[in-house]
Amino acid sequence: MGSPAAGRTSPAPALSALGIEKRFAGVTALDGVDIEVGQGETLGLLGPNGSGKTTLVNCVSGVVRPNAGRVLIDGIEIGHLSRDRRARAGLIRTYQNLRLFTDLTVAENIEVGLLAQRGRPREQRRNLVRRSLAEQGLEDVARLPVSELPYGAQKRVEVARALVSEPKVLLLDEPGAGLGSSETELLSEALRSARSRFSCAMLMIDHNVNLIMGLSDRIVVLSDGKVLRSGTPAEIAGDPEVISVYLGQVPQKLPR
Ligand SMILES: Nc1ncnc2c1ncn2[C@@H]1O[C@H](COP(=O)(O)OP(=O)(O)OP(=O)(O)O)[C@@H](O)[C@H]1O
Ligand SMILES: [Mg+2]
Repeated sequence: MGSPAAGRTSPAPALSALGIEKRFAGVTALDGVDIEVGQGETLGLLGPNGSGKTTLVNCVSGVVRPNAGRVLIDGIEIGHLSRDRRARAGLIRTYQNLRLFTDLTVAENIEVGLLAQRGRPREQRRNLVRRSLAEQGLEDVARLPVSELPYGAQKRVEVARALVSEPKVLLLDEPGAGLGSSETELLSEALRSARSRFSCAMLMIDHNVNLIMGLSDRIVVLSDGKVLRSGTPAEIAGDPEVISVYLGQVPQKLPR
């Protein structure tokens, strides 16, 4: 929130999750986490297994109810809204494990991403699906049942389904998991192009450090349900505590 003294107020962050706490029987998954994603900004979320990354995305998207905390889009409270209403407000997510409709074709799965936008003219929806297919290199398999595609291509269908509605805020839970290097490259391209086309704000989890470092404007590192560090990719890559808590356990070389 900008101060009145600053003249015109600066825009509220695209997404704020403030003071988020989540406990599961005996486990504190999130212990007062604050994150903000600016308009059009990409925030990378890193952290060891079990540090609370997916739980945070679940709290933000309405999959689980936090024990405490607030979720806002453009400065407006959405924490009381259902998942569907959050989606209609432009908050879209992907899942760590694929959640596609295996009986539907690739194109039909992508079209599901437009269900919340029944108001859009049919021709416009068709064009959006076509563009999504092209962006992810899925045109040739558009009419195949999604279950016939290899895992990496199915992951791309899920990302395409999330992007097709041109969301205001996109939450990506390990979109790069299980992708080969050329597929990871396609994924990066698609996310960059989405960002430049409709200034989508993104919160992205992935254990592929190169992918996160390459795409993120800023990175937050979670450890044991708390924010351990927040900074630019360069700051995070060089931080000794982050290296010992997280990067040390990832069998990957840092980009520099
Ligand atoms: N539905 C649940 N019931 C009970 N405990 C849960 C539930 N979901 C998550 N947890 C616990 O909360 C903690 C955080 O889990 P979470 O899945 O958010 O971690 P993560 O950072 O996404 O890990 P990973 O990198 O392995 O995906 C873990 O201890 C996990 O076992
Ligand atoms: Mg997870």
